[in-house]
Amino acid sequence: METLENKSSKKSSSHEGYVLVTGGAGYIGSHTVLELLICGYNVVVVDNLSNACEESLIRVQTLAGRPLKFYHANILDEQTLIPIFEKYNIWAVLHFAALKAVGESTKIPLDYYWNNVTGSLNLFRVMERFGAYNIVFSSSATVYGQPDIIPVNEKCSLGPVTNPYGKTKLFIEEAIRDMCAANNKWNAILLRYFNPTGAHPSGVIGENPRGIPNNLMPYVSQVVQGRFPFVKIFGGDYDTVDGTGVRDYIHVCDLATGHVAALRKLKTKPGCVAYNLGTGVGYSVLEIIKAMSRACGKEIPYQITKRRPGDIAVVTADARLANAELGWYPKYGLDQMCQDLWRWIDSNPLGYPESSNEAKQILQQMSA
Ligand code: NAD
Ligand code: WQD
Repeated sequence: METLENKSSKKSSSHEGYVLVTGGAGYIGSHTVLELLICGYNVVVVDNLSNACEESLIRVQTLAGRPLKFYHANILDEQTLIPIFEKYNIWAVLHFAALKAVGESTKIPLDYYWNNVTGSLNLFRVMERFGAYNIVFSSSATVYGQPDIIPVNEKCSLGPVTNPYGKTKLFIEEAIRDMCAANNKWNAILLRYFNPTGAHPSGVIGENPRGIPNNLMPYVSQVVQGRFPFVKIFGGDYDTVDGTGVRDYIHVCDLATGHVAALRKLKTKPGCVAYNLGTGVGYSVLEIIKAMSRACGKEIPYQITKRRPGDIAVVTADARLANAELGWYPKYGLDQMCQDLWRWIDSNPLGYPESSNEAKQILQQMSA
């Protein structure tokens, strides 16, 4: 019988050393790990599976036809990270691991500061100890707070940010800027994602739903699946095309290619640079509901309710810096984002299934 391991070993790496991906079993991390493997990078994933499961990585290996190394570990645990840095020649880290729910962060701020900030600082100390000075950090458009201008560019002022989640992103950015200023061995790329959505076009990997989603697209998906009766549109009186909030939605596979472009840029020793990853095109909530409705062929009920505190009318990205300096351009438009999202949820209505023990063992053996 062909196992994942022997199936995966048919293609080999074209890059020296390893890229460590924290949070690589999660939504954006798993799509990026796939892209890294396809591009020939050697990948070690560290994830504590607090918001993910092994199945995403098992599927990534199968899609890529190449193996990865996986450690079920917490970035807060220095004693677990050290042996990983000892074992692999890690030249760069893509740092996705974080708690990410804005609403939840206002209820359990200490957990967010501890996991995201302390976890990151712990990781950076271990990186420094092993001379692994190249990092790509998963930041967010949220660091701009209420942006000065739309579309937002990287020169716009940062903050103030009102929720603990966003503050952790801003704080980690500041820590990285200070590290780079103090020691020119550090090279950091801060990728500020706008509104990630979609799934791999295969429909095999995607965002794993847990609890009631905060974000629009996962919520719309669950209305399509019949888990909620209608989409609550937060505000119909904004100064926008139809009164509903406008955002810059970006396909998760475009984010994945953005990370590979950032890794290439790190090799040119850029110091510390922030890039927006967005399409530059904004869509309203109603436009999103219509596009999703086209993709799944179903009416999506909605009701317009009051504005959500802290929301603003329009946020879109000026991503010309990433276009020019990373040579990165998003490929996917809104219809493709919705079609790919629908393919994923239609084929995996409950998200990832529990992996078989055999599959988990194969994944564990590959890291032994
Ligand atoms: P996700 O929850 O799917 O992925 C995060 C992963 O990190 C999960 O697999 C989780 O198990 C892991 N993790 C969390 N804490 C950890 C710890 N202490 N040690 C090890 N692993 C840990 O989220 P995502 O949507 O893929 O987001 C990835 C990154 O991108 C996050 O840093 C997030 O803040 C950032 N981001 C996400 C969005 C978005 O809308 N999805 C937007 C902007 C920025
Ligand atoms: C999009 C639009 C809502 C849900 C958040 C974080 C940001 C980043 C991306 C991590 C807005 C409207 C939403 C719903 C609605 N994440 N909406 N009904 O707020 O732009 O950004 O996710 O870094 O930090 O703040 O995304 O998907 O929550 O909202 O009407 O049930 O949809 O008002 O206009 P947001 P979102």
